[in-house]
Amino acid sequence: MSASRGGFSSRFGFIMAAAGSAVGLGNIWGFPTQTASNGGAAFVLVYLVLAFCLAYPAFMAELLIGRYGQANAVTSMQKMSRNLWQKRFAFIVGFSGIICAALILSFYGILAGWMMSYAIEPVTTTLGFNEASSWLTSQSIARNLIFSALFMMLTISIIRRGVEDGIEKWSKRLMPMLIGLLILLIIYVFTLDGSREGFAAYLNPDISRVFEPDLLINALGSAFFSLSLGTSVMVIYGSYISKKENLVTLGAQVTLIDVSIAFLAGLLIIPSMYVAQAQGVAIFSDDGSLISGPNLVFEVLPTLFDGMGGIGLFVGFGFFVLMSIAALTSSISMLEGPVSFIVERHNIERKKATTFVGLGIFIISTLIILNFDVLFGFVISLSTVYGQPLIAMLCCIFVGWIWQRSDVLAEIKQGNDNVEHGLFWKIWPWYTKFICPSAIAIVFFHSL
Ligand code: PHE
Repeated sequence: MSASRGGFSSRFGFIMAAAGSAVGLGNIWGFPTQTASNGGAAFVLVYLVLAFCLAYPAFMAELLIGRYGQANAVTSMQKMSRNLWQKRFAFIVGFSGIICAALILSFYGILAGWMMSYAIEPVTTTLGFNEASSWLTSQSIARNLIFSALFMMLTISIIRRGVEDGIEKWSKRLMPMLIGLLILLIIYVFTLDGSREGFAAYLNPDISRVFEPDLLINALGSAFFSLSLGTSVMVIYGSYISKKENLVTLGAQVTLIDVSIAFLAGLLIIPSMYVAQAQGVAIFSDDGSLISGPNLVFEVLPTLFDGMGGIGLFVGFGFFVLMSIAALTSSISMLEGPVSFIVERHNIERKKATTFVGLGIFIISTLIILNFDVLFGFVISLSTVYGQPLIAMLCCIFVGWIWQRSDVLAEIKQGNDNVEHGLFWKIWPWYTKFICPSAIAIVFFHSL
């Protein structure tokens, strides 16, 4: 079976694909924005702790489920189940993850469309097409529909090619580009007046805020969103890794890349805001907090780019291309979750399944665009605030309480003979069984 369903051809391919899924708008937009609105470095600190102590173990649970099952999320979890009730539970958890991925893609595609249209704007401006430029950067139903459709077509065209030729190949091309662009932009911003102040604001934590409930909840949500947890995505990516690979190390490497890129993105965005301030742009809202959310990315930063003169066109272009690439390597993983399910469970050919699922999700995006005020926030909360933590928690429960312990240990040992002497072996199994689900539940119910 595994030969026909495809898989990653190399360790590097897996790392780029999984890091590609993890690194997305969540890192480059969400994380810096959350940092700005949650007291700067205190948020960064809490985020780092939660990412390694809660998100990484849950991430490993999902990867291990997939590699053991060698199939889509539902089938993989059903393979671990030993009776009818467990199989039903497996179906509910796996299928909810798949639906969650589809819902996330439906709003993510709209955001990614905005990024693409803002990336094209410097080009039309250079060519002197001013009307086109203002159309590209003003909110309209037509623009939103056209650009989400374009973005969805890009996503579909990669997933239609399969794991090695589509996901792996494109992640290997796009991720190094993304990292290169990010570093170039950071270096450039550091040469500008005002950036040092931003650097200080980003890196000096206000320790008194570390235990604020809102800050904890936002940091946990960001970490789960960033590692694509609770969406079946890491289960399916795990299922494409060879049994010869050391999953414990690979998972840690992906987490490290994800967290580092979020950190680097903060290093770009927060100092950029202070540079904008040095140029006379207002960066604090009326209540004294740093501007965050869409205003930051679509107003403060473009004003900054405009103020840079000719080079600003290049910087703006680079920034929004960076955003679009980050979104694309994530959106392909969101589409792969439902597509792999349909291909494997219903025996539908991959290309057809991809087009079918992609169109279905685009219809949801269209509904959101047409009823933006009601649906946009609702779908985001449903999938990321409620769906992801709950489903990730259920995955931990599944691994801790349903999957037979000897099988769990045997799976950890695959490709990692010495694991018995390490910390992961001693801590992770009981940690995932008791600590992870309870900690997620505490933070989750607290947030309600
Ligand atoms: N991790 C991605 C980001 O940070 C988003 C994502 C969520 C991707 C869920 C896949 C599944 O933007």
